[in-house]
Amino acid sequence: MRTTDAEIDPDAERELLERFEATVGRSDRIEPRDWMPEGYRKTLVRQVAQHAHSEIIGMQPEGNWIGRAPSLRRKAILLAKVQDEAGHGLYLYSATETLGVSRQELTEMLLAGRQKYSSIFNYPTLSYADVGTIGWLVDGAAICNQVPLCRTSYGPYGRAMIRICKEESFHQRQGYELLMTMMRGTDEQRAMVQESVNRFWWPALMMFGPPDADSPNTARSMAWGIKRNTNDDLRQRFVDMTVPQAEALGVTLPDPDLRWNEARGHHDFGQPDWEEFTQVVKGNGPCNAERLAHRRRAHEDGAWVREAALAFAERSAVQQEKAS
Ligand SMILES: [Fe+2]
Ligand SMILES: [Fe+2]
Repeated sequence: MRTTDAEIDPDAERELLERFEATVGRSDRIEPRDWMPEGYRKTLVRQVAQHAHSEIIGMQPEGNWIGRAPSLRRKAILLAKVQDEAGHGLYLYSATETLGVSRQELTEMLLAGRQKYSSIFNYPTLSYADVGTIGWLVDGAAICNQVPLCRTSYGPYGRAMIRICKEESFHQRQGYELLMTMMRGTDEQRAMVQESVNRFWWPALMMFGPPDADSPNTARSMAWGIKRNTNDDLRQRFVDMTVPQAEALGVTLPDPDLRWNEARGHHDFGQPDWEEFTQVVKGNGPCNAERLAHRRRAHEDGAWVREAALAFAERSAVQQEKAS
């Protein structure tokens, strides 16, 4: 059982903290049974829960197109992808539960707007090309963010990320393949892809979070081994990875400042509209209200499943007791 700081005398706590820091310093994993500073636990709960919520809310923009997929093949791919996201949400809720918070509490916090999810899912999906663009850019950005998290210091989170990353690369590939197919099609299809990329490029860059100078928690998260790279490092990595893919596709990324910088060995690029980002995070994005309303409705519609599962568990317990 987890002990709280209040129950430990200062000398013992110092020793526990030293042991914790040594474990993190060796890049070993912290496990649920280990003592951890309360700030570490709280930061992880916030980050892992936000990640779990993003997977679940992230099912909505693409789920919107399942009933309108252009072919059986596209429908099968999209269904598989959206179902994977549900699975990711569940692994991550389970990882959060090892930190002493129940999935029910996390769900309530999401529905009450007290925990966030990724800002990207507050943008609408207006054409089937968006399914491809989300796979390519949004899952692509998620991979950049998540691959380093496979080495995060908290064991259950890191292990969940290893499984998730394998599936994310399928998501990225299916999106790219869809866009490539459209780019080989008609002028109208090529225009659909370009229009979609124009809408998603900047929100995809925002997925890495605010610039490092405005991200006060980054240093602490890195010292604890929760984060392995800064927001700006990851954003740069994503841009460098994506530019040659855009060239191969034949689409233009909508940034007049985007160019290769020989001296740095990286691409220079413009800044997203950070005011827009702040507004979307605050709940004022184009689809925030719709996403939460949909999630609330789904939660209410699922009430009978939770009641039935509870009744079954109670009855099984009574039967087992009788039998013994
Ligand atoms: Fe995912
Ligand atoms: Fe994904």
